[in-house]
Amino acid sequence: MIKLAPSILAADFNILGEQISLLEDAGVKYLHIDVMDGNYVPSISFGMPVIASIRKNSKLIFDVHLMVVEPIRYLEAFKEAGADIITVHAETCTHLHKTISRIKELGLKAGVAINPSTPLNVLEYVLDDIDMVLIMTVEPGFGGQPLIPSTLQKVKDLKEMVLKTGASFDIEVDGGIRVDNVEVLLEAGANIIVSGTSVFKGNIKENVANFDKKFTEFSGTK
Ligand code: DX5
Ligand code: ZN
Repeated sequence: MIKLAPSILAADFNILGEQISLLEDAGVKYLHIDVMDGNYVPSISFGMPVIASIRKNSKLIFDVHLMVVEPIRYLEAFKEAGADIITVHAETCTHLHKTISRIKELGLKAGVAINPSTPLNVLEYVLDDIDMVLIMTVEPGFGGQPLIPSTLQKVKDLKEMVLKTGASFDIEVDGGIRVDNVEVLLEAGANIIVSGTSVFKGNIKENVANFDKKFTEFSGTK
């Protein structure tokens, strides 16, 4: 099942709750939440208080993408705030396996994010422990960047790894994704599509409907 995960990094924070309600009305199921610490990535976004606040009014699956050094320090706090899925960058964890185990012990789904230059082999020994792999299609840190074309091959390679090993996890892609370039990513094997700018810029409901149309068309061809 293909799902859209709108990234609230591109939302209007003055009316964040209203915009999330629009997404729910449009049938969205996932909300992608980018947490940046100003250390692993240059920018600082928002943290637990914002997540806890939107949790009160939303039943969406909170897909929390931590761009944070040593995220193991904050896992309980993000669970408390309302995370359903926590994704950590392989490079930010001194002990990746332990970090994944801790996320699972908390009863949450665990994801590992892979940067454009990070090889897939960091996943080799944790394949059976994870629920999702997030392939970054831009360098993490900012919304609104153009997709890096070489990341497409990485999605294909990951899909092949899944088929070869019999592992089962979602493949999420994140960064620079628009209605007019999403199809190649679906074709490559991605099934959770993050989009910030292309969802929040302009009419949110129309943008979601345009993505959904693409997803339906694609599923129809399979
Ligand atoms: C980048 C973030 C992305 C970003 C996507 O570090 O992880 O989730 O918000 O935004 P767009 O779709 O605008 O590239
Ligand atoms: Zn993200």
